[in-house]
Amino acid sequence: MRYIGNKTKLLPFLGSTMARLGIAPGVAHDAFAGTAAVGRALKSAGWVVHSSDLMTYSYVMQRAYVVASTIDSFDELAKADAPVGGLFVARGLAATQRSVVGAERGIGLDSTEVVARRLSAVADHLANGVAPSEGFFAQNFSPAGGRMYFTDENARRIDAARATLHDWRHRGLLADDTFYVLLAAVIEGADRVANTAGVYAAYIKQWQPNALRALTVVAEPPIRTHARCIAHQADATQVAETLGSIDLLYVDPPYNTRQYAGYYHVPELIARGWFEDEVTLRGKTGLIADKDQRSAWCSRREAPNALRSLLSATGARHVLVSYNSEGVIGDKELRAILADAAIDGRVKRFTRRYKRYRADSDREGRRYKGDEVRELLYYARLRRGGEGPK
Ligand SMILES: C[S@@+](CC[C@H](N)C(=O)[O-])C[C@H]1O[C@@H](n2cnc3c(N)ncnc32)[C@H](O)[C@@H]1O
Repeated sequence: MRYIGNKTKLLPFLGSTMARLGIAPGVAHDAFAGTAAVGRALKSAGWVVHSSDLMTYSYVMQRAYVVASTIDSFDELAKADAPVGGLFVARGLAATQRSVVGAERGIGLDSTEVVARRLSAVADHLANGVAPSEGFFAQNFSPAGGRMYFTDENARRIDAARATLHDWRHRGLLADDTFYVLLAAVIEGADRVANTAGVYAAYIKQWQPNALRALTVVAEPPIRTHARCIAHQADATQVAETLGSIDLLYVDPPYNTRQYAGYYHVPELIARGWFEDEVTLRGKTGLIADKDQRSAWCSRREAPNALRSLLSATGARHVLVSYNSEGVIGDKELRAILADAAIDGRVKRFTRRYKRYRADSDREGRRYKGDEVRELLYYARLRRGGEGPK
């Protein structure tokens, strides 16, 4: 997903830095999970991962990419043959599944491939097999609803996919893991056809080529491990307090004053449960109330103390902090806070240059200093229970 601070491209840098520092797999807390890219990479490298974030869409992605380890056989789903609410054309799904099962038999696939094929057929059914329907997104986030975030057709497809998924879950036709894997795929699919410059703070007044494409839903089979990973929709410090002794705390907080809650309200709404009666949208872009999801890390005044509190709450042995050369906490202050929490008072810093992610333009009250930003990765060995005064 297009996401400010998404670390997918920086994973090799993170991995090689951990190898240089000799940090071996154990229990990690990905405290600001966002798209769950880091938690997912840690899980596939053998870590037991706890992840946290304030946003519901992040919780959905954490469940899909970090927690989920297995996927349904979809037998229950294929057996259900009564259309529900006019949205779920089960016979169509059963036909899709029959052809997938037929192909599986024909080419002798192993169980991982079978699961991947079935998952992909069900995801595709959500995008193309279910009749588009008029719902919350068509009424509020398409031209018919006065906001050009999605074409009318794509908004109706998002409504139908979402309604179908909730219906399947409500009827016990999907296990929780599968529900989240498919819901994450709908959120990511919607993002690919969103008529924005990358964030949802504004829609673009002309249709962009990506927005004119039809919605696709592409589900990722989960990483299979026996490790019990856990997702949290909660404040990083509150979660850190509950985890006790762990090996690694990975900190990737917001760097600037832009609140994620205001920049990603549309995926947030797709991720939430049924809410049509309760949600009030405001303004041109349909913002939602976000009092509980505003972050202290976006405030120059509050961010340094937020970092101090997190470091004193965690029981981690190692901390890695991703930060950006233009962040609200300056390099000197960040080093001083980390040094204070370090067992030996030492802080290491690793850097990587990368091209700036331009989510909004210079015209919208921002003047960027250049196209290149330095991604900073700070490391400190922390004191933890029994190893020295906290
Ligand atoms: C830079 S992004 C993280 C990006 C993530 N590493 C990725 O690869 O997608 C920062 C995240 O911190 C979350 N956040 C902000 N304040 C938080 C808090 N107090 N506790 C937990 N998460 C918070 C935001 O919702 C956002 O998803």
